[in-house]
Amino acid sequence: MSRTLTFEIFRYNPMDPDSKPHMQTYELDEYDSMTLFIALNRIREEQDPTLQFDFCCRAGICGACAMVINGRPGLACTTQTVKLPKKITLHPLPVFKLIGDLSVDTGTWFQNVNEKIESWIHTQKEFDPKAIEERMENALANEIFELDRCIQCGCCIAACGTARMREDFLGAYSINRLARFYIDPRDERSDQEFYDIIGSDQGVFGCLGLLGCEDVCPKEIPLIDQLGMMRRKMALRSLRQGKCS
Ligand code: SF4
Ligand code: FES
Repeated sequence: MSRTLTFEIFRYNPMDPDSKPHMQTYELDEYDSMTLFIALNRIREEQDPTLQFDFCCRAGICGACAMVINGRPGLACTTQTVKLPKKITLHPLPVFKLIGDLSVDTGTWFQNVNEKIESWIHTQKEFDPKAIEERMENALANEIFELDRCIQCGCCIAACGTARMREDFLGAYSINRLARFYIDPRDERSDQEFYDIIGSDQGVFGCLGLLGCEDVCPKEIPLIDQLGMMRRKMALRSLRQGKCS
């Protein structure tokens, strides 16, 4: 039997001095295979054209639609309402700058962090557009690809206790990203160069190990394994430098 869903949605427009943060209620009849993407679009089209939220690919690829769904960060476009109770509460992702209602600016956060961690392959080799790409063992290529599946949705940052407490924490996203370059033989950075970026409380040593990041990652990236691997490598570097007792 089809249900009538009740949506409690966070509303606030930081650009409007008269706007106050509050929750607004909407009701919608559910149908088979309805996703939150469909539900939100129907609410906007049929009930409230002022409701702000982000979507782009509608297929779990772009990461734009991440929001807090009944208290848990997730992707609205791949979340079916049938998996949720009748009452659905939606908030914007914390940590990121609020644009309005459910829409946040993850782009600026990711750009800043990508610059900080120098999120690109570092090599002295001259770029030759005509060169054939160097071969790599399939197993290693797959290992790198596994970590490259991140869609920069921000769910891991929103679920991270440390990121909520300190603005400078680089978060699971960055540690995973650097782990990806660490195992890539084309990246010529030394252990010391990786250490200089994440060998501190801003990086691998700041994580409290609450595991929220991996729990909510929609791409099921093994974030805790990457943290463990990078932490061991960076701890070894600390020992060599006499920074650990
Ligand atoms: Fe999203 Fe997972 Fe990438 Fe974090 S690691 S930004 S949760 S896809
Ligand atoms: Fe692209 Fe949801 S709209 S991931």
